[in-house]
Amino acid sequence: AAVGKGNYRHFMEKELHEHPAVLGDTLRQYLDPKTLEVRLPRLPFDPARITRLTISACGSAFLAGMVGRYWIEQLARLPVDADVASEFRYRNPPLPEQGAAILISQSGETADNMAALRLLKEAGQRVLSVVNVPESSMARESDGALLTVAGPEIGVASTKAFTAQLAVLACLAIGFGRARRELSTLDEGRLAQTLLEVPSHAAAILEQDAQIRELAAEVAKARDVLFLGRGALYPIALEGALKLKEISYIHAEGYAAGEMKHGPIALIDSEVPVIALCPSGPLFEKTASNLQEAAARGGRVMAFTDAEGAKALSRFAERVIVLPQLGEFSTPILYAIPVQLLAYHVAVLKGTDVDQPRNLAKSVTVE
Ligand code: G6P
Repeated sequence: AAVGKGNYRHFMEKELHEHPAVLGDTLRQYLDPKTLEVRLPRLPFDPARITRLTISACGSAFLAGMVGRYWIEQLARLPVDADVASEFRYRNPPLPEQGAAILISQSGETADNMAALRLLKEAGQRVLSVVNVPESSMARESDGALLTVAGPEIGVASTKAFTAQLAVLACLAIGFGRARRELSTLDEGRLAQTLLEVPSHAAAILEQDAQIRELAAEVAKARDVLFLGRGALYPIALEGALKLKEISYIHAEGYAAGEMKHGPIALIDSEVPVIALCPSGPLFEKTASNLQEAAARGGRVMAFTDAEGAKALSRFAERVIVLPQLGEFSTPILYAIPVQLLAYHVAVLKGTDVDQPRNLAKSVTVE
């Protein structure tokens, strides 16, 4: 049956509002809410035995892979190489014997990533794909597939499939951590608990729509926008910039907050919104001090944070959006939602074709 927009103006808006349900469905697939245990189906490789992991993807799926790298390295102490498929396929990287790879794709048909898959298999790698379309080429040709339970995604710019990819990768990181004896049952339970709280917090963030629309009104006037984040929120800063570019056609860059002083700081003036993803936690002080530097140069700091972080940031930020506070592990999933929502509202204000942005395709099946 054809998928409709229901009462929403755009598919993208509808799909943004599906975040809580999709996250719940995807997490339930891989996480037992009663025992707080990750339950993965049989994988094509043994995470306890591999020495390295390769992640390949394109677009937003690659940014999910970057978050996955932070998580897997941290929880499973496994070195991870994450690259865009178009680079990976021509890089001729040295691959370990019996090595393992994860491919991430909503459609499961993206040409560059299909080429990466064939190359990996020729090189004797065991390939697991994380896909949204069960009957896709990638799901069929991989040695194993984990499904994101996002349902059909129609808007060209990925939204719910992206957070569902994060949910699967979070479960994989926990599962790998346990398999490699890097995580205790207690740690596993604690991490699982924060993941299980994500859907209700996601719903609460969608309720903050009016606040994000106000921020969008400011951002819509800008010519350039800078997104900053650190750690696993750095890829989310990239996702914020990518979405804004794709659907509102405003030039945006995502940067690792600590790298700002090596470049983007030169762009900062009173015209450039600096959008920061800065939850409280171990990296808070570091990011906050980068933001203060931006503010000291006349930059307009607009921060997404939590109640604790807001205390310090409201001293110099022009706007602070207070998001629900959640265990550090789950913040990348949660913070993806307001940056996607922001891009959506900016695009609506600019009157662009939100669901079919110019020059872009939902699934890029040619190189
Ligand atoms: C296109 C879409 C993006 C998507 C990317 C990768 O560029 O516009 O939203 O992230 O392709 O697609 P895939 O289907 O492999 O996830």
